[in-house]
Amino acid sequence: MILTHPSSGEWWRSAVIYQIYPRFFKSTTNGVGDLPGITSKLPYISSLGVDAVWISPFYTSPQKDHGYDVSNYRDIDPLFGSLNDATELIQKANELGIKVIVDLVPNHTSDQHVWFQEALNSPKGSEPRNRYWFREGRGENGELPPTNWRSVFGGPAWTRVEDGQWYLHLFDSSQPDLNWENPEVREEFESILRFWLDRGVSGFRVDVAHGLMKDPELPDWDHDWAMVSGLDDDSVSAPPMWDRDSVHEIYRSWRTIVDSYEAMMCAEAWVHDDARRSLYVRPDEFQQCFNFSFLSSPWSKDSLQNVIARSYEVNNGVGAPTTWVFNNHDVVRLPSRMGLERTGKGPNGIYATDPQPDFELGTRRAQAAQLLMLALPGSAYLYNGEELGLPEHTSLPDEARQDPTFFRTKGEEAGRDGCRVPLPWVSAEPGAGFSPTGETWLPQPDGWNGFAVDVQEADPDSSLNFVRKALALRSQNGLGTSGIDDQSTDTTLDYLVGDIRVITTFDDEADRPEGWRVVLSSTPVTDTIGTDTTAWLVRD
Ligand code: NOJ
Repeated sequence: MILTHPSSGEWWRSAVIYQIYPRFFKSTTNGVGDLPGITSKLPYISSLGVDAVWISPFYTSPQKDHGYDVSNYRDIDPLFGSLNDATELIQKANELGIKVIVDLVPNHTSDQHVWFQEALNSPKGSEPRNRYWFREGRGENGELPPTNWRSVFGGPAWTRVEDGQWYLHLFDSSQPDLNWENPEVREEFESILRFWLDRGVSGFRVDVAHGLMKDPELPDWDHDWAMVSGLDDDSVSAPPMWDRDSVHEIYRSWRTIVDSYEAMMCAEAWVHDDARRSLYVRPDEFQQCFNFSFLSSPWSKDSLQNVIARSYEVNNGVGAPTTWVFNNHDVVRLPSRMGLERTGKGPNGIYATDPQPDFELGTRRAQAAQLLMLALPGSAYLYNGEELGLPEHTSLPDEARQDPTFFRTKGEEAGRDGCRVPLPWVSAEPGAGFSPTGETWLPQPDGWNGFAVDVQEADPDSSLNFVRKALALRSQNGLGTSGIDDQSTDTTLDYLVGDIRVITTFDDEADRPEGWRVVLSSTPVTDTIGTDTTAWLVRD
């Protein structure tokens, strides 16, 4: 069914996009979030003032990595609902003027995908095996993996099957990597793109966009590549499995498809070299690519100023907007990250026995960071619960943990569950109103109901109302498409964005400039702008 597409134009250049992780957004049944839950909250999403939602995977999946292990790309996991529920969600969102971006996971399938099952049941060297990376092992009896590659989630990137061959998985062993040298794989994904475009989606967030192509020689490689931050050692070039030049050709062919539907694509490419990252947003490739340099910047004036300047420089070079982001389902939530002794990308989860974030300081900085981000020309992503100022859950019991990184690192890393806790909607209800039964698939921390939407709706100074005000002003003043002028001092960020002056302080207070009055600020401003604060000002 072809639904009416929302108005076209290059809306994505300045769009504010709200990420929804279906599992913890809102449950209409038994404590696991679902698509009817999202549909029921569309008026709430609309009240935030966002332009679009990006929905993390809802496809049929054994849920080994919460849906990033897809077994059928053309259907919905029964846990989340049905294809009809998805169609209804897309249609109702579009009616409210909210565009829907879905998540595409092309680097790997689930091991339960029909292709992988067929591969397992087919002989070595057969066509079904050639859709993945099956290889003989090393050592006398092939008992050693074909290469020394490490999984991003910890442990080796190869698993052995019954007949002695090994298959490659850059993530969990339940997520075998597809062989993008194989034309059949390419055709299949082009067809999947069309399947969802025909159902009215306005775009795709593309998972691990920098990982699809591998050096077919499969040489050994002695380094690690981490989620979000990629490779920290700049001196290492050309990894055999990440950010290979040949990956771009795939996106050029996808672009012609999405263009024919006036849709867009956003790359999740953990490429830290800003110039290389900008290659993904050349005019005939992605429209957007997450700015992970921004996300992982420490809370420091110099660092943020450099990241912002560099981001505009490299993206202007290819005519692309920047895509600002501070939060997603793979990182510790911002108010907690900003409250750690070392700010920046942060650890992979926080245990109760780890040094705990200073939540008050973290919240102050997070709101300042948020207001800075929302002033910057370009597109911005918000992560569900970010508008409520939710912290990371740092006291989850190990029995409750589900993230494969916790298991594959043997608990060395707490993992990402702490930023995926079921949202609080109604403070007085069990489970803070997440589900009708009060069940929540992950336990919520003490005090979670204090963050509930109903409490924050009633408080004009709440985090929720702060984000709403910021988005309304951003839109009224056209900040997303304005020019930006950097007039920062040694201690303070100071940008002129259209008619709005945006000042962010760090360890030092700043004087409110004469002739300017505050229209919104993350902490109350008098003649002085306090530390760790962002203020938006207009001329008197
Ligand atoms: C990146 C996703 O954001 C993450 O959640 C997932 O685990 C990996 N890709 C593997 O698909």
